[in-house]
Amino acid sequence: MSILKEKILNKTATLGVVGLGYVGLPLAVEKAKAGFKTIGFDVQESKVEMVNAGKNYIGDVVNEDLEEIVKSGFLSATTDFAQVASADCVCIAVPTPLDAYQQPDISYVKASAESIVPYMHKDMLIVLESTTYPGTTEELLKPILEKSGLICGVDFHLAFSPERVDPGNLIYKTKNTPKVVGGITPECTDVAAAMYEAILEAPIHRVSSPAVAEMEKILENTYRNVNIGLVNELAILSNKMGINFWEVVDAAKSKPYGFQAFYPGPGLGGHCIPLDPYYLSWKAREYGFHTSMIESSMMVNDRMPEYCAERSSKILNRFKKAMNGARILVLGVAYKQDIDDYRESPAIRVIEELEKEGAEVVYYDPFVSEYREHDVVKKGEPELTLELIESADLVIVTTAHTNVDYNFVQKHAKAIFDTKNAMKQVESRENIELL
Ligand SMILES: NC(=O)c1ccc[n+]([C@@H]2O[C@H](COP(=O)([O-])OP(=O)(O)OC[C@H]3O[C@@H](n4cnc5c(N)ncnc54)[C@H](O)[C@@H]3O)[C@@H](O)[C@H]2O)c1
Repeated sequence: MSILKEKILNKTATLGVVGLGYVGLPLAVEKAKAGFKTIGFDVQESKVEMVNAGKNYIGDVVNEDLEEIVKSGFLSATTDFAQVASADCVCIAVPTPLDAYQQPDISYVKASAESIVPYMHKDMLIVLESTTYPGTTEELLKPILEKSGLICGVDFHLAFSPERVDPGNLIYKTKNTPKVVGGITPECTDVAAAMYEAILEAPIHRVSSPAVAEMEKILENTYRNVNIGLVNELAILSNKMGINFWEVVDAAKSKPYGFQAFYPGPGLGGHCIPLDPYYLSWKAREYGFHTSMIESSMMVNDRMPEYCAERSSKILNRFKKAMNGARILVLGVAYKQDIDDYRESPAIRVIEELEKEGAEVVYYDPFVSEYREHDVVKKGEPELTLELIESADLVIVTTAHTNVDYNFVQKHAKAIFDTKNAMKQVESRENIELL
């Protein structure tokens, strides 16, 4: 048995997490809660200070858990990568966005790896958790880490293990979500799997290479992306045909096998579903291959905010009101219900489309008091008041937050365009139009 595996099994290994965001902080908390001395690394001083003060900033982390593990000395955070020297295992969970040309921006992965290199030591484990194209761990990360003079698979272990966290999910958290692990060598896989087994209460699924694990994660998210593209397209068609598409999905759902329900909406949001398939499309080009399913669903999904603005215009028209000069209340800017994350949120695209046409747009979101987009800060309304609803020519529901009083909205709004079927429980429906 390797020395490192032994240290993991007897919990004397020190574990590190690079990137203390939506993925990294919950992971660091689980490592510390499992009884490992854990060090979190981030380039943002403010996050490091908050962690060291025991102050939480991620919805899925329990405040008291963080407070306790910081107080007891199990978790600390730093911007100083020299502390990598005292870590035995380091997981990298930094952003993997797209650049302005919709191509993978892998610069954060590169930068974080380069920060680790000077402090690497023998018998260390490094795991990449950031979502990325197949080949990243072996073709990009391994050569950077080997600049340390250490040889991968001989002097240190390297693996990829995709993060599957679903922010806001009340059942599946970091702790109990099954993990996939693929190492450069079988021993790399074995050591990485041992680390996750020691901190999680979930099955660990081993695969034969990092590329399989990288592709597996892209499959999960592309599956969602393509299916959402399909239901969005059928929702547009159903509207033309006078069919309630939500009723269609609910009916299809009654089949106990062979169908999984996906719902239409104003577009794709978040850091994963809209971005990850592009990582694969980009890589596919190296092989002269076109990912046509991904391109088709992206074409539908990317047009949804514009489509929602067009439908809003038609609703206003029925009230003899032009979009130009109309006052519109948007309900929800988070990319999904009951969370405060608005990255890539389609609601913001809808707002932009409406404002382009001259509408005066205000928004209310119980989780997002203000958002910043293209260096412009937009402040939300502090409360969903009677005056706010009555003052709007149209209310558009763009996020299905569950703590909004939709009966109150229905009672006082002139017209409502519900793009998420968030108001399905509301009985009076004369002023509600569904996507
Ligand atoms: N958020 C999700 O729901 C989710 C789910 C599954 C997978 N992922 C993937 O996980 C990865 C991380 O996503 P996230 O949502 O946690 O991002 P995030 O932006 O919330 O957090 C990333 C953190 O990394 C830090 N960082 C950036 N560069 C760094 C560097 N060079 N060194 C150290 N720290 C650095 C940032 O300051 C930030 O705190 C991405 O690849 C994402 O696609 C995210």
